[in-house]
Amino acid sequence: MLSWLAAETQTIERLDSSRKRFEPAHPSYYNGRPGNQLQRLMTARRDFLSIWRQNDHKEAVRDIKLLRRQIVAVNSPEAIKYVVATRHENFERKTPQMRRALEYLLGDGLFISDGETWKQRRPLVADIVHKHRVPAFGDIMKNTSLELVERWTTLGEGASVNALYEMAGLTAEIISRSVFGNDLGEESAGMVTDGFTSYQALIDSINIGYFLGFDEGLPLFRTPSLRRSVKRIHSIIDRVIEDHLAGKGDDNSMVELLIRRQKRNPELNLDVVALRNEAATIFMAGHETTAATLTWAWYLLSRAPWIEEAIHAEIEAVCGSNVPTVADVANLKWCTAVIEETLRLYPPVPILARQAKEADRIGDLDVKPASLVLIVPWVLHRTPSLFQDPHLFRPERFLSGKRPTPYSYIPFASGPRICPGLQFGLTEAILCLAVLAQRFRLRVPEDHEVEPICRLTLRPRGGLPVTLHRR
Ligand code: HEM
Repeated sequence: MLSWLAAETQTIERLDSSRKRFEPAHPSYYNGRPGNQLQRLMTARRDFLSIWRQNDHKEAVRDIKLLRRQIVAVNSPEAIKYVVATRHENFERKTPQMRRALEYLLGDGLFISDGETWKQRRPLVADIVHKHRVPAFGDIMKNTSLELVERWTTLGEGASVNALYEMAGLTAEIISRSVFGNDLGEESAGMVTDGFTSYQALIDSINIGYFLGFDEGLPLFRTPSLRRSVKRIHSIIDRVIEDHLAGKGDDNSMVELLIRRQKRNPELNLDVVALRNEAATIFMAGHETTAATLTWAWYLLSRAPWIEEAIHAEIEAVCGSNVPTVADVANLKWCTAVIEETLRLYPPVPILARQAKEADRIGDLDVKPASLVLIVPWVLHRTPSLFQDPHLFRPERFLSGKRPTPYSYIPFASGPRICPGLQFGLTEAILCLAVLAQRFRLRVPEDHEVEPICRLTLRPRGGLPVTLHRR
C-alpha cells in the first residue's frame, strides 16, 4: 500500500583490487524531496537503510515530526551515552512496534520487557550467558562447525550453497545445543530455524498505528502462517523444557541453569511459559545476529582476498594443522578484527529504538513523552568524523589495540541493556570463522549484486549465494 511513494535507491559497491580498497555494498544516500515525510516513511517501510541523507552522518541530535509523532535521531557518542546509560530508566522501553512485533513469539522475554520484569530477569539471563561460562560452550561451537566442514566436503569442489542459510543452520544448532542441551535433531532444529525466519519475514517492522498517535501501537495481524510458525516454535521448546523439568535434560545446558535458579529462588516465579519466553529470547537474540555477522564476513572476505590471506596466515601460525579451539580465540587477532569490522559495517541490529517515558532533554533538544528515540548503529558506524573512510572494509582499524571512541561503536548496544551475549556471540563468530576458513574459501559470484536489507536484523537480500572451495 502506497509503496509507490517510496524514493528510488541504488546500491553502491566499489572494488579496486590493485589498491586493495573495497567499499562493500550500501545504499546511496537518501535524496527524496526535503519536507516530504510521507515519502520518507514509505521508503523506511520498504527499507530502513535507505532513508539517511549524507547530512545525517554527522555527530548531532535531530528530530522530525512524522504524522503526530516526534522522532529523535541521536548520532553523537555523548548523547548516546546520555540515552543508554545516564538516563537509561527514561529510555529503557522498547518501541511499540518492536514490542508488538515480538510479543507473540517471545512473550515477556528479556529482549522486549522493561520495568520490574526486566530488572528481575536481567541478572538471571546475564549470568547464564556470562563470559565466564563461554569456554564451556567452546566445544559445541567447534564441533558443530566441524560437522559443517564435513558436510561441505561431501558436496564437492565448487558446490553452490546459500551462505546465509548455511550460517543460520550452524548458529541455530550451536545455540540450540547450548540452550537446550540435547541435540534437537536436524528436523526439529530446521523447524525452529525456519519458524524464526518466516516469523521475521511476516512481521512488519513499521507499525503505522504508532505514528498515528496510539502510544501502544496496533496489534500485530496474526495471519494463519504466522500462527503456524509460532505454534511450531513454542511446541518444540515446550517439549524440551518439559524434558528438563522431568530430569531428562542435559546438565550443562542454559535451560537447566534457568530451572536450577528457579528451584533455588522460587520468588522468581518462572513457570513453563516464562522459561519458554527466556529460552526463545536467547535462541532468537543469539542465533540470527551471529548468522548475519558470519554471512557478512564471508561476503567481505570473498571480495577482499588480501584480507582473507592475512587470516589464513594467522590461522596457520596460531593453530598449525590443528582445528582452532576456544583457547586460540585470544590469539586470533586478525580474525577478531575481521569480525569487529564486519559488525561495524553491517551491525546485525542496525537500529536501537526506544520510547521516551517522560519529557527529557537530549543535548540541546527537548524530547516529548512517548517520542521515538533512534540510535542507528548503521549511521553512527559510517559517520566520517568517527571512522576514517567509513564505507571501506578495513579490519586494520581494530588491530594493535586500537579502539573506537567510547559510544561510537555499539554493535552490541551499550549501558545496562547491553547485549548480555556479547562474549558468547563474539567468541562464536571468531571461532566458527577460523574453523571454516582453515578448510574452505567461499566465493560470492562476481556478477551477484549484494543488497543489504533491514528487517529485525540486517541481512543480504535473498541471502548470499557462494561457491565452496577446499583449501
Ligand atoms: C554477533 C552477535 C550479537 C549481536 C551483534 C548482538 C546484538 C545485540 C544488541 C544490539 C542488543 C540490544 C538490542 C536493543 O537494545 O534494542 C542485544 C540484546 C540481547 N542479546 Fe545480543 N547480540 C549478539 C549475540 C547474542 C547472543 C549469542 C546471545 C545469547 C546467547 C544474545 C542475547 C541477547 C539478549 C538476551 C538480549 C536482550 C538484553 C536486554 O534487553 O536486557 N545476543 N543483542
